[in-house]
Amino acid sequence: MENALEAIHNRRSVRAYEDKAVPKDLIDKVIDAGLWAPSGMGRQSAIVVAVTDKEKISWLSELNRKIGGWKEGFDPFYGAPVVLMVLGKKDMPTYVCDGSLMIGTMGIAAEELGLGSCWIHRAKEESEMPEVQEWLSSLGVPEGYEGVGHLILGYPVKDKVAAPQPRKDGRVFWAE
Ligand SMILES: Cc1cc2nc3c(=O)[nH]c(=O)nc-3n(C[C@H](O)[C@H](O)[C@H](O)COP(=O)(O)O)c2cc1C
Repeated sequence: MENALEAIHNRRSVRAYEDKAVPKDLIDKVIDAGLWAPSGMGRQSAIVVAVTDKEKISWLSELNRKIGGWKEGFDPFYGAPVVLMVLGKKDMPTYVCDGSLMIGTMGIAAEELGLGSCWIHRAKEESEMPEVQEWLSSLGVPEGYEGVGHLILGYPVKDKVAAPQPRKDGRVFWAE
């Protein structure tokens, strides 16, 4: 098992997944890591909707594709068997930061557990659609939440994982 620093360096955005379900206990571990992410004033306001139902994933993918303006037939969730939709409570001043950190933390946990992941955007626009609001409400999500992002999860097709870009210079400043 990787330690945290190894997982941070080894994590890559995965855009090709094996057609293999992820055991629920692994999904739970990834989500649990997200629940332990820091949050503004410790309010733990970000929530996760875990989607494993193939039809629902296709439905969300199609909404996401249209929002993004991608060509018909493109799957912005790249065939991933799990979509974790993270939402923040709009009346919390730090809701976007809280949700973002939850996604980032879950991505590192996924790497450590041998899973691939990728942040997929456009959850805000999805969450503003009446049909998505109705669906979220049917799952028990209270009103007042806005999508921050999705983390897709699954087993990576290893030879399709892109190599990382070198880190850009000039991004660190010291005041010693
Ligand atoms: C805020 C944010 C939004 C992103 N949205 C998408 C997206 O919609 N689709 C996608 O394929 N990747 C998306 N990514 C993944 C980035 O493209 C990826 O992190 C970047 O290319 C660096 O690659 P790496 O994660 O493998 O280091 C997003 C990442 C972030 C942080």
